[in-house]
Amino acid sequence: MKTRESSMPEAPLWESFFTPDAVLRALGLAPTHRAVADFGCGYGTFTIPAAKIISGAGGSGGAGGGGIVHALDIDPAMVAATIARANNDGYTNINAITRDFVAEGTGLPQGSVNYVMLFNILHAELPEVILREAQRILAPGGLLAIMHWNHDPATPRGPSLAIRPRPAECRQWALNIGFETVTTDPIALPPYHYGIIMRRAPD
Ligand SMILES: C[S@@+](CC[C@H](N)C(=O)[O-])C[C@H]1O[C@@H](n2cnc3c(N)ncnc32)[C@H](O)[C@@H]1O
Repeated sequence: MKTRESSMPEAPLWESFFTPDAVLRALGLAPTHRAVADFGCGYGTFTIPAAKIISGAGGSGGAGGGGIVHALDIDPAMVAATIARANNDGYTNINAITRDFVAEGTGLPQGSVNYVMLFNILHAELPEVILREAQRILAPGGLLAIMHWNHDPATPRGPSLAIRPRPAECRQWALNIGFETVTTDPIALPPYHYGIIMRRAPD
Protein backbone atom coordinates (compact mmCIF):
# COMPACT_ATOMS: atom_id res chain seq x y z
CA MET A 1 0.00 0.00 0.00
CA LYS A 2 1.22 3.46 -0.83
CA THR A 3 2.64 5.27 2.19
CA ARG A 4 0.32 7.96 3.55
CA GLU A 5 0.66 11.46 2.09
CA SER A 6 3.19 10.41 -0.52
CA SER A 7 1.54 11.49 -3.75
CA MET A 8 3.54 13.86 -5.88
CA PRO A 9 2.91 17.22 -7.53
CA GLU A 10 3.97 17.70 -11.16
CA ALA A 11 7.66 17.01 -11.70
CA PRO A 12 8.79 20.61 -12.39
CA LEU A 13 7.33 21.84 -9.11
CA TRP A 14 8.71 18.87 -7.13
CA GLU A 15 12.16 19.30 -8.61
CA SER A 16 12.25 23.01 -7.83
CA PHE A 17 12.67 22.03 -4.16
CA PHE A 18 16.05 20.27 -4.50
CA THR A 19 19.59 20.36 -5.80
CA PRO A 20 19.93 16.59 -6.11
CA ASP A 21 23.62 16.28 -6.91
CA ALA A 22 24.56 18.49 -3.94
CA VAL A 23 22.16 16.57 -1.66
CA LEU A 24 23.67 13.21 -2.60
CA ARG A 25 27.23 14.39 -2.14
CA ALA A 26 26.38 16.01 1.21
CA LEU A 27 24.87 12.68 2.24
CA GLY A 28 28.02 10.76 1.45
CA LEU A 29 27.30 9.14 -1.92
CA ALA A 30 30.63 8.60 -3.65
CA PRO A 31 31.86 7.08 -6.92
CA THR A 32 33.17 4.15 -4.88
CA HIS A 33 29.62 3.02 -4.03
CA ARG A 34 28.87 0.06 -6.26
CA ALA A 35 25.21 -0.62 -5.55
CA VAL A 36 22.52 1.80 -4.40
CA ALA A 37 18.85 1.33 -3.52
CA ASP A 38 16.43 4.25 -3.88
CA PHE A 39 13.25 3.49 -1.86
CA GLY A 40 10.33 5.34 -3.50
CA CYS A 41 12.17 6.78 -6.49
CA GLY A 42 9.32 9.02 -7.64
CA TYR A 43 10.30 10.82 -10.85
CA GLY A 44 13.90 9.61 -10.52
CA THR A 45 14.84 13.02 -9.14
CA PHE A 46 17.68 11.48 -7.13
CA THR A 47 18.00 8.18 -9.02
CA ILE A 48 19.52 9.72 -12.12
CA PRO A 49 22.08 11.91 -10.30
CA ALA A 50 23.00 8.89 -8.13
CA ALA A 51 23.52 6.79 -11.26
CA LYS A 52 25.74 9.51 -12.63
CA ILE A 53 27.84 9.79 -9.46
CA ILE A 54 28.48 6.06 -9.16
CA SER A 55 29.03 5.52 -12.88
CA GLY A 56 32.19 7.54 -12.67
CA ALA A 57 30.99 9.34 -15.81
CA GLY A 58 31.72 13.05 -15.88
CA GLY A 59 28.97 13.79 -18.34
CA SER A 60 25.71 12.05 -19.14
CA GLY A 61 25.53 8.32 -19.67
CA GLY A 62 26.19 5.54 -17.25
CA ALA A 63 27.29 2.74 -19.53
CA GLY A 64 30.36 0.72 -18.69
CA GLY A 65 32.09 -0.26 -15.51
CA GLY A 66 30.08 1.72 -12.91
CA GLY A 67 27.78 0.71 -10.13
CA ILE A 68 24.04 0.15 -10.28
CA VAL A 69 21.06 1.99 -8.79
CA HIS A 70 18.00 -0.10 -7.90
CA ALA A 71 15.05 2.31 -8.04
CA LEU A 72 11.83 1.04 -6.44
CA ASP A 73 8.36 2.54 -6.44
CA ILE A 74 4.85 1.20 -5.95
CA ASP A 75 3.48 3.53 -8.61
CA PRO A 76 4.03 2.23 -12.16
CA ALA A 77 3.82 5.79 -13.51
CA MET A 78 6.77 6.80 -11.32
CA VAL A 79 8.79 3.79 -12.42
CA ALA A 80 7.95 4.55 -16.05
CA ALA A 81 9.02 8.18 -15.59
CA THR A 82 12.33 7.06 -14.08
CA ILE A 83 12.97 4.59 -16.91
CA ALA A 84 12.11 7.20 -19.55
CA ARG A 85 14.49 9.64 -17.97
CA ALA A 86 17.27 7.07 -17.69
CA ASN A 87 16.83 6.16 -21.35
CA ASN A 88 16.71 9.79 -22.41
CA ASP A 89 19.88 10.60 -20.50
CA GLY A 90 21.65 7.41 -21.60
CA TYR A 91 21.96 5.73 -18.21
CA THR A 92 22.11 1.95 -18.42
CA ASN A 93 23.02 1.41 -14.76
CA ILE A 94 19.49 1.81 -13.37
CA ASN A 95 17.29 -1.15 -12.42
CA ALA A 96 13.79 0.31 -12.00
CA ILE A 97 11.30 -1.96 -10.22
CA THR A 98 7.57 -1.60 -9.54
CA ARG A 99 7.17 -2.93 -6.03
CA ASP A 100 5.57 -2.31 -2.65
CA PHE A 101 8.65 -2.42 -0.45
CA VAL A 102 6.57 -2.15 2.73
CA ALA A 103 4.40 -5.18 2.00
CA GLU A 104 6.90 -7.25 0.03
CA GLY A 105 10.36 -5.93 0.80
CA THR A 106 12.67 -4.92 -2.02
CA GLY A 107 13.41 -8.42 -3.28
CA LEU A 108 17.10 -7.51 -3.34
CA PRO A 109 19.54 -10.00 -1.84
CA GLN A 110 20.77 -9.57 1.71
CA GLY A 111 23.93 -7.46 1.95
CA SER A 112 23.82 -6.60 -1.75
CA VAL A 113 23.99 -2.78 -1.68
CA ASN A 114 26.28 -0.30 0.01
CA TYR A 115 24.14 2.85 -0.07
CA VAL A 116 20.41 3.23 0.64
CA MET A 117 18.36 6.35 -0.05
CA LEU A 118 15.26 6.98 2.09
CA PHE A 119 14.23 10.36 0.76
CA ASN A 120 10.88 11.88 1.70
CA ILE A 121 9.49 8.49 2.73
CA LEU A 122 9.94 8.00 6.49
CA HIS A 123 6.61 9.63 7.34
CA ALA A 124 5.31 6.15 6.51
CA GLU A 125 2.92 4.34 8.84
CA LEU A 126 5.63 1.76 9.60
CA PRO A 127 9.03 3.44 9.25
CA GLU A 128 10.71 0.61 11.12
CA VAL A 129 9.63 -1.89 8.43
CA ILE A 130 11.38 0.22 5.80
CA LEU A 131 14.45 0.68 7.98
CA ARG A 132 14.70 -3.04 8.66
CA GLU A 133 14.57 -3.80 4.95
CA ALA A 134 17.26 -1.18 4.35
CA GLN A 135 19.39 -2.84 7.00
CA ARG A 136 18.83 -6.30 5.49
CA ILE A 137 20.01 -5.33 2.01
CA LEU A 138 22.95 -3.19 3.15
CA ALA A 139 26.36 -4.79 3.32
CA PRO A 140 28.19 -4.34 6.63
CA GLY A 141 29.57 -0.80 6.72
CA GLY A 142 27.08 0.37 4.08
CA LEU A 143 25.49 3.80 4.41
CA LEU A 144 21.88 4.74 5.05
CA ALA A 145 21.01 8.25 3.85
CA ILE A 146 17.76 9.77 5.14
CA MET A 147 16.38 13.04 3.83
CA HIS A 148 13.13 14.69 4.78
CA TRP A 149 11.27 17.98 4.85
CA ASN A 150 12.19 20.33 7.66
CA HIS A 151 9.71 20.33 10.50
CA ASP A 152 8.59 23.82 9.59
CA PRO A 153 5.09 24.98 8.65
CA ALA A 154 6.61 27.43 6.14
CA THR A 155 7.74 24.63 3.80
CA PRO A 156 5.76 24.73 0.54
CA ARG A 157 5.01 20.95 0.50
CA GLY A 158 5.64 17.86 2.55
CA PRO A 159 3.52 15.65 4.75
CA SER A 160 1.46 17.27 7.48
CA LEU A 161 3.51 18.25 10.51
CA ALA A 162 1.68 15.73 12.68
CA ILE A 163 3.33 12.85 10.81
CA ARG A 164 6.47 14.56 9.54
CA PRO A 165 9.45 13.02 11.34
CA ARG A 166 12.06 15.20 12.98
CA PRO A 167 15.76 14.35 12.53
CA ALA A 168 16.16 13.00 16.07
CA GLU A 169 13.18 10.71 15.56
CA CYS A 170 14.59 9.22 12.34
CA ARG A 171 17.94 8.75 13.99
CA GLN A 172 16.41 7.03 17.00
CA TRP A 173 14.37 4.65 14.84
CA ALA A 174 17.53 3.68 12.99
CA LEU A 175 19.51 3.28 16.22
CA ASN A 176 16.74 1.09 17.64
CA ILE A 177 17.25 -1.49 14.92
CA GLY A 178 21.01 -1.48 15.11
CA PHE A 179 22.31 1.22 12.77
CA GLU A 180 25.31 3.26 13.88
CA THR A 181 25.46 7.04 13.81
CA VAL A 182 27.70 8.66 11.21
CA THR A 183 26.51 12.26 11.61
CA THR A 184 25.18 13.32 14.98
CA ASP A 185 23.74 16.67 13.91
CA PRO A 186 21.27 16.95 11.04
CA ILE A 187 22.79 18.09 7.77
CA ALA A 188 21.09 21.19 6.36
CA LEU A 189 19.94 20.67 2.79
CA PRO A 190 18.54 24.07 1.95
CA PRO A 191 16.08 25.40 1.30
CA TYR A 192 13.62 22.91 2.82
CA HIS A 193 15.25 19.64 3.84
CA TYR A 194 17.56 17.98 6.31
CA GLY A 195 19.66 14.86 6.04
CA ILE A 196 21.07 12.16 8.30
CA ILE A 197 23.72 9.54 7.58
CA MET A 198 23.73 6.24 9.46
CA ARG A 199 25.75 3.09 8.86
CA ARG A 200 25.05 -0.61 9.00
CA ALA A 201 27.42 -1.87 11.64
CA PRO A 202 30.40 -3.79 10.31
CA ASP A 203 30.16 -7.54 11.12
C1 LIG B 1 7.08 11.80 -1.64
S1 LIG B 1 7.60 10.74 -2.94
C2 LIG B 1 9.39 10.88 -2.86
C3 LIG B 1 10.07 10.49 -4.16
C4 LIG B 1 11.60 10.56 -4.13
N1 LIG B 1 12.15 9.74 -3.06
C5 LIG B 1 12.04 11.98 -4.00
O1 LIG B 1 12.38 12.39 -2.88
O2 LIG B 1 12.06 12.68 -5.03
C6 LIG B 1 7.33 9.13 -2.26
C7 LIG B 1 7.38 8.03 -3.31
O3 LIG B 1 7.30 6.76 -2.62
C8 LIG B 1 6.43 5.92 -3.34
N2 LIG B 1 5.86 4.96 -2.39
C9 LIG B 1 4.96 5.22 -1.39
N3 LIG B 1 4.68 4.10 -0.73
C10 LIG B 1 5.40 3.10 -1.30
C11 LIG B 1 5.50 1.70 -1.05
N4 LIG B 1 4.82 1.12 -0.09
N5 LIG B 1 6.32 0.95 -1.86
C12 LIG B 1 7.03 1.55 -2.86
N6 LIG B 1 6.95 2.89 -3.14
C13 LIG B 1 6.15 3.64 -2.36
C14 LIG B 1 5.39 6.86 -3.94
O4 LIG B 1 4.74 6.29 -5.05
C15 LIG B 1 6.22 8.09 -4.29
O5 LIG B 1 6.72 8.03 -5.61
